[in-house]
Amino acid sequence: MRTQSAVLFEQPGKWEVVDLELEPPRQGELLVKMAAAGLCHSDDHMTSGDLVLPPGALPMAGGHEAAGVVEEVGPHTPGWSVGDRVVMSFLPACGMCRWCASGMQNLCDNGALVLAGIRPDGTRRFSLDGSPVGQAAGVAAFSQYSTVSVQSAVKIPDDVPLEVAALLGCGVPTGWGSAVRSAAVEPGDVVIVMGVGGIGMNAVQGAAHAGASVVIALDPVESKREAAGAFGATHTAATAEEATEIARGFTNGQGADSCIVCVGVVTGGQIAQAVEAIRKAGTVVLTGLPRAADDHSLPISTRHLTLFQKRIQGSLFGESNFSRDIPGLLQMYRHGQLKLDELITTRYTLDTLNEGFADMRAGRNIRGVVVYD
Ligand SMILES: NC(=O)c1ccc[n+]([C@@H]2O[C@H](COP(=O)([O-])OP(=O)(O)OC[C@H]3O[C@@H](n4cnc5c(N)ncnc54)[C@H](O)[C@@H]3O)[C@@H](O)[C@H]2O)c1
Ligand SMILES: [Zn+2]
Ligand SMILES: [Zn+2]
Repeated sequence: MRTQSAVLFEQPGKWEVVDLELEPPRQGELLVKMAAAGLCHSDDHMTSGDLVLPPGALPMAGGHEAAGVVEEVGPHTPGWSVGDRVVMSFLPACGMCRWCASGMQNLCDNGALVLAGIRPDGTRRFSLDGSPVGQAAGVAAFSQYSTVSVQSAVKIPDDVPLEVAALLGCGVPTGWGSAVRSAAVEPGDVVIVMGVGGIGMNAVQGAAHAGASVVIALDPVESKREAAGAFGATHTAATAEEATEIARGFTNGQGADSCIVCVGVVTGGQIAQAVEAIRKAGTVVLTGLPRAADDHSLPISTRHLTLFQKRIQGSLFGESNFSRDIPGLLQMYRHGQLKLDELITTRYTLDTLNEGFADMRAGRNIRGVVVYD
């Protein structure tokens, strides 16, 4: 079949909407009609070239945060029906590898392949004029239709709007889990969230939900700081120095229990500020990604790290097990414990996708969402 998709042809580049050929679902696959797709800063790292793709990965149909409806089920694929509403996870879970078997689906061995745009079985499903086209995260959220592996899909209840469900494909579990799992926020904690966009706002929700007594939303953009209160921030700061002072004020000068770094384009200097802001034996969670050129720049005192026993913890997809966490988070939303509607700032179409990313870079959105017909 034919589908309109936003495709990246080169790095750096921009999204170009083209008609692609899409294969029907094979065994273990679903044809999904997309309903909505979130704009995540990681997509922008792909167009900018910060996330360097391996040779041969381009062209690639973009987007990795989506929800939709199953239109066709592959042969011999039990447990799925036409009409099922699904969220697609940007990382798959094979269920068999060491990481899946250890309750770490986010680290599934199939993840690396899928992030390079290749299906878990090493093949591709989209093509343009007969040449294969990759599929971002095994999802290709910026496509009207996609065939996805059941390893990347989870069924969701009928009463959750697909527009907000889409955000569960990446941003919500990534931010929420960065606080609840990677920072292991405990009741009474003092937490700084550095960068409160689509990911960081969910780290704010997660920290508040885990019982933090003080949640400091740190962002240079005023509208983000203003929005953070509704998600559970108790304080806001425009600079790291200001946030550190607030944290010290609540901890007898010791510093925050954790600082969760969710800046759109992270610098080594910001990570150093986060390390400075935490107390002895505190945790910096590193969720945001840097520019490619900054990948090895971390100007921190290793003595300081050792002698104050501080921890820098990387976090992928908020350490989520998506087949447990996506339904769990949606249950919290249905019970009024998790805000999702409020995350969506602006709606776009595939044709206005590049404007959406321009809005993201200008700091205008918490989350932009492409809505399909
Ligand atoms: N680890 C993962 O699994 C994972 C998953 C998704 C996204 N990410 C990464 O997380 C980061 C955030 O993504 P997003 O979609 O929320 O981006 P976003 O653009 O929506 O939000 C980033 C926020 O950082 C703020 N910011 C910029 N400079 C700052 C500074 N010096 N101090 C504090 N805040 C600052 C911006 O104003 C903005 O509000 C990106 O790097 C993205 O690639 C990681
Ligand atoms: Zn993402
Ligand atoms: Zn696995």
